[in-house]
Amino acid sequence: MNSQSLEALKPPTLTIQQHIVVGQQRFPDATGEFSFLLSGLTLATKKIQAQVRSAGINNILGEFGEVNIQGESQQILDVYSNRVMIESLSCRKSVGVIASEEEDEARLLNDSPEAKYAVIFDPLDGSSNIDVNVSVGTTFSIFRRPDGVTGANPNQWVLQKGTEQIGAGYVVYGSSTVMVYTVGNGVHGFTLDPSIGAFVLSHENIRMPKQGKSYSVNEAYLEDFPPNYQEYINHLKSGNAGNYRSRYIGSMVADFHRTLLRGGIFIYPPTESHKSGKLRLLYEANPIAMIAEQAGGFATNGETRILEIDPQEVHQRTPLVVGSEHEMEQFRKFI
Ligand code: AHG
Ligand code: MN
Ligand code: MN
Repeated sequence: MNSQSLEALKPPTLTIQQHIVVGQQRFPDATGEFSFLLSGLTLATKKIQAQVRSAGINNILGEFGEVNIQGESQQILDVYSNRVMIESLSCRKSVGVIASEEEDEARLLNDSPEAKYAVIFDPLDGSSNIDVNVSVGTTFSIFRRPDGVTGANPNQWVLQKGTEQIGAGYVVYGSSTVMVYTVGNGVHGFTLDPSIGAFVLSHENIRMPKQGKSYSVNEAYLEDFPPNYQEYINHLKSGNAGNYRSRYIGSMVADFHRTLLRGGIFIYPPTESHKSGKLRLLYEANPIAMIAEQAGGFATNGETRILEIDPQEVHQRTPLVVGSEHEMEQFRKFI
């Protein structure tokens, strides 16, 4: 290959692993443990995407036959994804505690002094969409072990405000597999290149557009929303706020990913049946909120900034309103 044809290969491939290592060089004391932890997440999500991609031919679609602690029927792929996440993180001695949508409680993996981090995740978000080939995702949130906390109470590792997250992100299994993450220094997106099996930098320093053209909410429940949410949504529909269109997939990760790249607003309000909303604070709202804020957007539960909510329990639910600067300002006028 001559130098001219090498030029054609530009831009140079930067994998997520390289990106993380380069980022860590900003911290002279970094031991590489955190990079190794993140590589556990990329490994697990590559395995999950492989199963998601071949689910229809591997006979792993459908229900697992058990109900999780939140009363939701588990899909086979929920259980598989949860197992893969735990296995991959168990090999990282820096991970002391995990909490998951599919686990009843926070679980201690390792109580040695090396165990510095807790990882909280939704192994498969939107899993009821899998059977009909609609995008799904994985979300994750990382906390440092609080000073003085031992393995005797894993809950104390994970019941921290979102402002304490040291890293967060998601993977969306869509028309391509994309990982978006932040360690508090901007938001970066990586697309899985199946030909080399690596996540490659594709969206550097993502900024959410200041204003978007779509809103994302399950309008079938409109009459169950509090009146101020109804008024805001009707305002968007009236045309007085501009020409908004509606986009709702029903997989939070996919709906948010579009909102991050194109701008606009995603709303899961309190409803008659879910007075505190449906989405979970620790593994759904918190990572999305950190990404949104790092990209110039904002996230609230309608009263409080998501990242400042003091969690009381692992599976706590919260309303979630997240989006671009402009839409969030407009929303604020209605609440
Ligand atoms: P999960 O599959 O992890 O239980 O989450 C599903 C969630 C979320 O992805 C989505 O935003 C929401 O459920 C959709 O709920 P509705 O069908 O009530 O709109
Ligand atoms: Mn979910
Ligand atoms: Mn889930």
